[in-house]
Amino acid sequence: MKLWGGRFESGMDQRMERFNASIGFDWRMYDADISGSVAYVRALVKAGLLTEAEGDTLIGGLEQVRQEFAQDQFEIRLADEDIHTAVERRLHELVGPVAGKLHTGRSRNDQVATDLRLYTREAIHRLMAYMAEVQAALVAQAEAHPDALMPGYTHVQRAQPVLFAHWALSHFWPLQRDRERLADAAKRVNVLPLGAGALAGNALGVDRDFLAGQLGFDGVTPNSMDAVGDRDFVAETLFDCALLGVHLSRLGEDLVFYSSAEFGFVTLADAYSTGSSLMPQKRNPDSMELMRGKAGRLIGNLVTLLTVLKGLPATYNKDLQEDKEPLFDSLDTLDVALPIAAAVVRSLTIHPERMAAAMDDGMLATDLADYLVRKGVPFRESHHIVGRLVRAADGRGIGLRDLPLDAYQQADERFGEDVYRVFDMRESVARRDTVGGTAPSAVQAQLAAAKECLR
Ligand code: ARG
Repeated sequence: MKLWGGRFESGMDQRMERFNASIGFDWRMYDADISGSVAYVRALVKAGLLTEAEGDTLIGGLEQVRQEFAQDQFEIRLADEDIHTAVERRLHELVGPVAGKLHTGRSRNDQVATDLRLYTREAIHRLMAYMAEVQAALVAQAEAHPDALMPGYTHVQRAQPVLFAHWALSHFWPLQRDRERLADAAKRVNVLPLGAGALAGNALGVDRDFLAGQLGFDGVTPNSMDAVGDRDFVAETLFDCALLGVHLSRLGEDLVFYSSAEFGFVTLADAYSTGSSLMPQKRNPDSMELMRGKAGRLIGNLVTLLTVLKGLPATYNKDLQEDKEPLFDSLDTLDVALPIAAAVVRSLTIHPERMAAAMDDGMLATDLADYLVRKGVPFRESHHIVGRLVRAADGRGIGLRDLPLDAYQQADERFGEDVYRVFDMRESVARRDTVGGTAPSAVQAQLAAAKECLR
């Protein structure tokens, strides 16, 4: 059964049949498709185009089709071009010719846009819940290790001491922004295209606001031509997924580094590490390497869709069928990756002693410059003076704290005995107590703000 056979004399080339079909991937919108049809039946009854009894028959049949899908009993036929055809074909088998009234005034163009919006809406809510779990795991690690100090890096060079909790939360906020971005995208997803028809609107008086209410949409699309051709909501979702993937890849990269023997700051749980088939000693952070790698396909899916959309003429074009696979792939990827990310973070073992051992006096050079600043020396000058001291200590192969006082006073007479008090990592951290800084007080406030985001 084709939905459009009438004007054709001969059948389709089998290869064309396969080329044209989307049922291989769009079957998974069955729930959305059936919900959309149930609402549409109600709208047709309301418009007087179906009797109550016909409506009940159609809805009963649709619910049966839904059940067949849910119980994995639906048999997809070769000729089922797409999910819309498959559902209607089966409905016809179940309830007879009255099934032919379902599509009154509707086009697959407004139907597929509606299905995809319903599907995306649900997926976004699921993703957001998974993302919150990763965030909660980061918060839990930050809370479990409030005192641990670690070297903070820029350019992967030791820079300044920070709290481990501060590092953990540095990966919380990108995810928070991702979650806010998806919540914002969800607003534009949640607009109903049904009733746009093929492109020009519905001629049979279907109540679109009623349909929106039935399906939980916040409103209806304002232009039927735009409604059937608009896939911005897919592009936005794919962008949000891509950026989320980028963030997960950066978390992954930190943990790959930190779990190496050279750093030794963390150990990934056995459950999220793998061995080598050749080297018995190996313990590889594959979970986090994959986290890094998955960003590639997430970015690729966004680029795929934007490339499909670019230069398309107005309204529906079959190119738009290419919107689904990249979307489904990104959602599937994150459905697996996010729970893994949460579990890896949750089960991470932290080694504060290894973090402490990786600190050196050079990380306090800024504090030393600040010492002179507090004595009235312009920062540019104090930076230079301390630079010379660092070079002197390096030359002697000792730390800054091991340079004698006269070496300091030779460099600048404003150095006093109290200069050695600078060499306290904890003090250095505690001084950075402005909002967003790494001082314990500031990190506690940050932690409270982070928990507020998860409430
Ligand atoms: N399978 C199609 C898609 O995914 C459904 C819409 C088909 N519309 C059409 N006019 N052929 O886009």
